Amino acid sequence: MNNNFIPSPAKICEIIHENEQISTFRLKLINTSIPFSFLPGQFLMLSVPHCGEAAISISSSPTALPIIDLSIRKAGTLTNAMHMMKAGNQVGIRGPYGNPFPMKNFVNRDLLFVAGGIGLAPLKSVIDYCLFHSNSVHDAAQSITLLYGSRSPSDIAFQSVTSNWQEQGVNCRLTVDEADTDWQGNVGLVTDLLPRHNVTDNTTALVCGPPVMIRFIIAQLSAMGCQDEAIFTTLERHMKCGVGTCGHCHLDGKMVCMDGPVFSLSQLKTMDVMELAQ
Ligand SMILES: Cc1cc2nc3c(=O)[nH]c(=O)nc-3n(C[C@H](O)[C@H](O)[C@H](O)COP(=O)(O)OP(=O)(O)OC[C@H]3O[C@@H](n4cnc5c(N)ncnc54)[C@H](O)[C@@H]3O)c2cc1C
Ligand code: FES
Repeated sequence: MNNNFIPSPAKICEIIHENEQISTFRLKLINTSIPFSFLPGQFLMLSVPHCGEAAISISSSPTALPIIDLSIRKAGTLTNAMHMMKAGNQVGIRGPYGNPFPMKNFVNRDLLFVAGGIGLAPLKSVIDYCLFHSNSVHDAAQSITLLYGSRSPSDIAFQSVTSNWQEQGVNCRLTVDEADTDWQGNVGLVTDLLPRHNVTDNTTALVCGPPVMIRFIIAQLSAMGCQDEAIFTTLERHMKCGVGTCGHCHLDGKMVCMDGPVFSLSQLKTMDVMELAQ
């Protein structure tokens, strides 16, 4: 796609209601002659007329192109406006931006995904990509485990997606902070699930969710013996340009939009990252 600041129009083909706060917007570029490719972990700048722009991770896999999914939680001006949209409406997108997850490093690894709430969106792209390549000798992960935490059963997003992953061999473990009378699954924080899982020299962990969750999970993973270079997370900073020029996402000498949003723990340890401070 053109990499200037002019957004390309995209049509909302379908809206998947994930829960009260989150919907997935299935988009297609209107001008199909514009070349567009990306890797899991990259994000788009999404624009809605009169509402400005916001950074949103691509939650579908590149293998699903020309479909581009954006899973969006109501947070403010633009995201609330998105939730008023209907199938057939148009939005603007520019990008993709940012460093993706190093997908080549995940071949033959035991992948452990730990997510909270909307944090599953960028990881979903990685899981779908890995499952697409699961029969390939050169690209397949050894195993995939997902630990996913939500506040309550009605807050669980991506329910049909996780059921589908389970059928494809992903070891999915869901937990809720507070159960209702119908909930049969685990109750407790996602940090309670982690110690029940093996971490070995072959584990690569990908963590995304609220900053406090990321902080505790990373500390647990380290204590369980996971290597710094095998722990990855994505950082959120308020973004304006997405291309390293406005300085809004500056963090200890790095621009999160260009140097991230994906970082390994080894990289984070060289930076002053407040929310991950012990
Ligand atoms: C790389 C990246 C990927 C993301 N991916 C997703 C995703 O997949 N799905 C998703 O739902 N969200 C995602 N986000 C978060 C999303 O970009 C923000 O929530 C965005 O602010 C929403 O825009 P808005 O106009 O709806 O909300 P805003 O009106 O921007 O308000 C949202 C919150 O940000 C605060 N805020 C507003 N302006 C500033 C400022 N200048 N500095 C600091 N805080 C401010 C507000 O007080 C409010 O609490 C991502 C963010 C990043 C950086
Ligand atoms: S968003 Fe402008 S420098 Fe990163």
